[in-house]
Amino acid sequence: QYERGYFMPPVKCNDWVNKEYVDKAPIWCSVDLRDGNQALVEPMSLDEKLEFFQMLVEVGFKEIEIGFPAASETEYEFCRTLIEKNMIPDDVTIQVLTQARPHIIKKTFEAVKGAPRAIVHVYNSTSLAQREQVFKKSKEEVKQIAIEGAKLLKELAEADGGNFLFEYSPESFTGTEPEYALEVCNAVVDIWQPTPDKKCIINLPATVEMSLPHVFASQIEYMSKYMHNRENVIISLHPHNDRSTGVADAELGLLAGADRIEGTLFGNGERTGNVDIITLAMNMYMQGVNPELDLSDMPHLAEVFERLTQMKIDDRHPWCGKLVFAAFSGSHQDAISKGMHYRIEKDPNKWTVPYLPINPEDVGRTYDSDVIRINSQSGKGGVAYVLEHNYGMIVPKAMREDLGYAVKDVSDVHHKELSPDEVLEIFEKRYKKYT
Ligand code: KIV
Ligand code: ZN
Repeated sequence: QYERGYFMPPVKCNDWVNKEYVDKAPIWCSVDLRDGNQALVEPMSLDEKLEFFQMLVEVGFKEIEIGFPAASETEYEFCRTLIEKNMIPDDVTIQVLTQARPHIIKKTFEAVKGAPRAIVHVYNSTSLAQREQVFKKSKEEVKQIAIEGAKLLKELAEADGGNFLFEYSPESFTGTEPEYALEVCNAVVDIWQPTPDKKCIINLPATVEMSLPHVFASQIEYMSKYMHNRENVIISLHPHNDRSTGVADAELGLLAGADRIEGTLFGNGERTGNVDIITLAMNMYMQGVNPELDLSDMPHLAEVFERLTQMKIDDRHPWCGKLVFAAFSGSHQDAISKGMHYRIEKDPNKWTVPYLPINPEDVGRTYDSDVIRINSQSGKGGVAYVLEHNYGMIVPKAMREDLGYAVKDVSDVHHKELSPDEVLEIFEKRYKKYT
């Protein structure tokens, strides 16, 4: 039996419950090269980080947390390489993470010297558990850490004269009393005094996911409602996925007033991962909302991701797993096949095909190899579809049932999936005498 680890806001907040879906893309920030990287068995090398960075730029991320430069030589060198080799496109801002400790903040400013633009992201943990067990500090003392960190950021940025934006995270926000988290964040905002031209970011991490998503969303709504200088503060979310509801946290959190999301591709990150930006973006796309990220070549993204991180994307990972558009079962195949014909005849611009939430071609998948797949569960419709789409053969209606059973039997006996060529071979053998 456990005590609950989260705290409810002192006022009831749920204006967002009537909204149906996220109707505009948030500001995306990829934290693949920091949170994702720090959770890998073997963190990426400098060259691997450069290749990953390039991929993030191609996908369309405008904000990329590139690392924690004070934490390791590779992280520091990576930051310097991006800056010194002019590898940061004009419309991309790099972000660097630092603890709210003076020597780490100073080293971070050395790392970003000369950057065309940079977000300096400072954090300290504010949760009850960390205050009591790790720091053994009072609320006031922990707030002072945030305040001193915020002041030093401002001072060093002014001294440097560079183009810096500031971000603050009350780390372990989900285990922090909302009133106290608000007090700390407002103290930071008061120091930074953001303006329309120089906003600041307050990032609210579900460092450990502790509650149902609607509870998290209530916490976000509370913070958004009572944040000082709200119009000049960008409220960012940083959900992790301990309860497997990081995506729901992000979606409800956006409905509750957040403006920005920090996450990773395919949900890599500490423990069960950070929120998966691909899932979030594709969920929007499915609702007809432009996610402002280019995910049209998902197989390429998956290949680069798996090679550089040495992680495996699950076959059922939403929107990008190998099997997520596959239909083996006869009734599904039949419905898809009919839906595809209906679409071509009636309205090619609309997507209403049963069992397929989007057109797989939109994410670089093909009908032939990814959708209609043949095994012992398959039916006549699927078999006819495979022959038509791979070889241009229209199987006569009267023949379909017989052929369907023949193909099913072969797959059953050999206990394996059949390729289109194997289906063709069965067809040719069976009807040879008629040809
Ligand atoms: O999960 C977390 O709280 C973090 C912070 C450093 C933002 O990664
Ligand atoms: Zn994190």
